[in-house]
Amino acid sequence: MALQAPEGTKDLLPDEAKFWAHFKATAADMFGRYGYVTIETPVFEQTELFVRGIGEATDVVSKEMFTAISGENLNKLLGGGTIKGKSRLSLRPEGTAGVVRAVVQHDLVPQGAAPAKLMYAGPMFRAERPQKGRQRQFNQVGVECLGAEDPSVDAEGIIMLMRFFAAIGIPVDATRLLVNSMGCEQCRPAYRDAVKAYMDAHADELCDECKRRAEINPLRAFDCKNPDCAAVMADAPKITEHLCDDCREHYDTVKAYLGGAGLSFEEDPKLVRGLDYYTRTVFEVQVTEGMGSQNAIGGGGRYDKLAEEVGGRPTPGFGFALGYERCALALQAAGYEFPAARRCDFFVACVDDSVRAEAFSLVQACRDAGLIGEMDHQHRSLKSQFKLADKLGAVVVAVLGPDELAAGQVKVRNMRTHQESAADLAALKKLLAHFGGEPFGGEADSLEAVLGKLEAR
Ligand code: HAM
Repeated sequence: MALQAPEGTKDLLPDEAKFWAHFKATAADMFGRYGYVTIETPVFEQTELFVRGIGEATDVVSKEMFTAISGENLNKLLGGGTIKGKSRLSLRPEGTAGVVRAVVQHDLVPQGAAPAKLMYAGPMFRAERPQKGRQRQFNQVGVECLGAEDPSVDAEGIIMLMRFFAAIGIPVDATRLLVNSMGCEQCRPAYRDAVKAYMDAHADELCDECKRRAEINPLRAFDCKNPDCAAVMADAPKITEHLCDDCREHYDTVKAYLGGAGLSFEEDPKLVRGLDYYTRTVFEVQVTEGMGSQNAIGGGGRYDKLAEEVGGRPTPGFGFALGYERCALALQAAGYEFPAARRCDFFVACVDDSVRAEAFSLVQACRDAGLIGEMDHQHRSLKSQFKLADKLGAVVVAVLGPDELAAGQVKVRNMRTHQESAADLAALKKLLAHFGGEPFGGEADSLEAVLGKLEAR
């Protein structure tokens, strides 16, 4: 049997790969308006970064990380040896920890500097059970703003993300924006204790995993998918009733900015997110229909302690990431089809093989002029060359035959209007040479001004 892609991975075939490029470009354009610039970090990092940054008790770190190991180190381990901490590597399950590591390592936010606004796009890896909208390798686009704790950073980030969703075609009225505050190191410990006490009182109704969570990290129980646990946790103490004055004010200001920008949002005091680094603002965007349980297309929040966790000086941060594949599913559910990746402006067809060399040269002139030029490479009949040109969406087909060539002529068919005219081959090549350089205009330039500048492309 032919080999298949690994479970939980997905090939982005050319039409979708082209859409992914457009998706990233649209994000870079939108986020660029808010001052974000691109950073690229490695797809694997020291495992310790994720353990310290994301949290040992999270599902992401405790169950879902893929280990990256060199052959040499694997042999060492198989031989009963050990490997050094530095050589313990994991594929990144998310982008924030790596970006914060890079900010600290390269001192991108020196004291007193303006915030660093960084964006990234690329694959993340989580060994989750695959299902619709949940993959083991998936693509995220994310942003991280480091160096400012003002609520305006949180609000502009959330507004920017919602603007992006609208720009890419996800109908905003088919989404739900959930917001919450996770408090800070002042107010969260007491809240954790309150949740733990509540969980202890309901221990016999909780799954074994949640009983364990009550000991290590009670807030994780809000994410448990077990319906009994969800029912218990629905009545658990709410963080918003335990916020200190500073966190309350921060949260109120974020909400005021969002409301002022006309965004509708729902407060969800049970929204804790699956990563331990969050402080204060957290949020998630869900699609309301057609996505099943994996309906979160993006989410993020503030992480004012993360830089210190990875060894840096105190540097507040805020960011989010969106899942490309889930956005694509949401778009498809709304009827969107990826446009064909392969296009053609100018197809050169050969009546027989005697003109192939000239066809080769004409199609090259098209490409040099900046057009997408194609010719047949399989010695097809003229009829099937036209079929191919049609399939590729060619705007123009130039037909070269031995008789025409002998007379220095070529037949040019406008595939939209089906009108055919004869053109002087040398003149056509000269016109093409002008195509990229724009100087069309005078009647003299015309082969109908190179067919309406190729039907305005
Ligand atoms: P996250 O909520 O874990 O946050 O992931 C962000 C988005 O990635 C999700 O909303 C979802 O669309 C997508 N996603 C996550 N896991 C999968 C999966 N297995 N398959 C397909 N899509 C998935 C983060 O990763 C944080 N780093 C976001 C952040 C940035 N917070 C602050 N800065």
